[in-house]
Amino acid sequence: MNNQRGHVIVLTYPAQGHINPLLQFAKRLASKGLKVTLATTHYTVKSIHSATVGVEPISDGFDEAGFKQAPSLEAYLDSFKSVGSKTLAELISKFNDSASPVNCIVYDSLLPWALHVARQFGIYGAVFLTNSASVCSMYWHIHHGHLTLPVKQETEQLLLPGLPPLGISNLPGFLGQPAVASAYLTLILEKFGLLEENDWVFCNSFEELESELVKAMKGLWPLVMTGPTVPSAYLDQQINGDRTYGASLWELSSDQCLRWLETQPPKSVVYVSFGSMADITSQQAEEIAWGLIASNVHFLLVARNSGDKFPSSFLNSVQGRGLIVPWCNQLEVLAHPAVGCFVTHCGWNSTLEALSIGVPMVAFPQWSDQPTNAMFVEELWRVGVKAKKNKEGIVSRDELEMCIMEVMVGTKSEEIKENASKWRKLAIRAVSSGGSSDKNINEFVGKLMKERG
Ligand code: UDX
Repeated sequence: MNNQRGHVIVLTYPAQGHINPLLQFAKRLASKGLKVTLATTHYTVKSIHSATVGVEPISDGFDEAGFKQAPSLEAYLDSFKSVGSKTLAELISKFNDSASPVNCIVYDSLLPWALHVARQFGIYGAVFLTNSASVCSMYWHIHHGHLTLPVKQETEQLLLPGLPPLGISNLPGFLGQPAVASAYLTLILEKFGLLEENDWVFCNSFEELESELVKAMKGLWPLVMTGPTVPSAYLDQQINGDRTYGASLWELSSDQCLRWLETQPPKSVVYVSFGSMADITSQQAEEIAWGLIASNVHFLLVARNSGDKFPSSFLNSVQGRGLIVPWCNQLEVLAHPAVGCFVTHCGWNSTLEALSIGVPMVAFPQWSDQPTNAMFVEELWRVGVKAKKNKEGIVSRDELEMCIMEVMVGTKSEEIKENASKWRKLAIRAVSSGGSSDKNINEFVGKLMKERG
């Protein structure tokens, strides 16, 4: 007998900034009564744990070390497409022979071939966007020829539906210089060719945050805002929800971080992290180091694999002023009362996590969608300031010190804190019972359940 619940396979790209939102989305679907299986590569499957979501491997063709084993990004993506399609189909067939046949695939937007697999089985296919809907709309306009590449340096302002006027420095990094990241750009653009063919386009964002864009895209995409995927326990410390992180590709230093944060006064600590992909240069690391020291604040710095880029005189002087760790549970840190400011690269997850938890930001974008997110943080949502680069493309120590001061105690700090608190409340409302994202998720779950029942 068939299981009467719907069964969704959630397919993630094997990078931290993708596994996090997709796993959290999978957990939310499971909490609504669906059976959910997260499919990920052999290389990452062991790093993911969940009590409510099944986790199953598929193959990207590089089962030992994933992307690192591949000769190039292009080769990796080609292999993932061919071997991934085949092994995803095998996984679905396995379930279809059991009591829990699959009736929908929700796939990471970096893996657009999954829609063909869904169609092959005659089941629903839904894409999950891990960038903001605003950034995705820019790529979609390019794909549809409304914007040609590379966007010329002399272009003063781009006007696109539902978006504020955008200067070239605020566009996703790939668009001004496509040669820099052509494999990524090809991949990104490819997914927008199929967008309208999906049964749902889910986005890790919420309607109130990008309301103009949601209006502008109405009727063009089957866009459904379902975020933020941040677990409720971190959004509202009053709720005793699930605090298990679920996935970490690096070893966590959480206990050490939390013990140290416990010793710090409320809202006094500056948390600094550049996410899981961006690499900073030694010159930039040096400026960050001395900027932190000059600002005279206590700080928690995630160095990941850049530890050796910071000057040894800085590392030796940190004791008592700060803590440097290779990786941490970012949600635990952001939700800790001692944290008052986040110096962030503005990856979409980090931006949304800070905004939803109500932590003011110093936006320090590196590449990809980050310049656009940084602009929104400063100009649209007004929950932080953007650090400006000098002619050499570096944020100087003085600039960093000035930005940290502005956010912590400067003339704009009160307004920034009020806005941070306002957006936190709106984010909590969106995912709470009856909120915009919650209603959207319920409609999707209801449809899958009804058809199965
Ligand atoms: C990248 C892009 O930068 C991002 O814009 C895109 O949307 C997804 O791919 P990444 O560089 O990893 O992502 O940044 P981000 O999107 O911020 O994701 C990082 C994730 O790792 C966040 O969920 C964050 O909570 C987590 N993290 C980061 C940790 O748990 N610990 C850390 O020390 C740092």
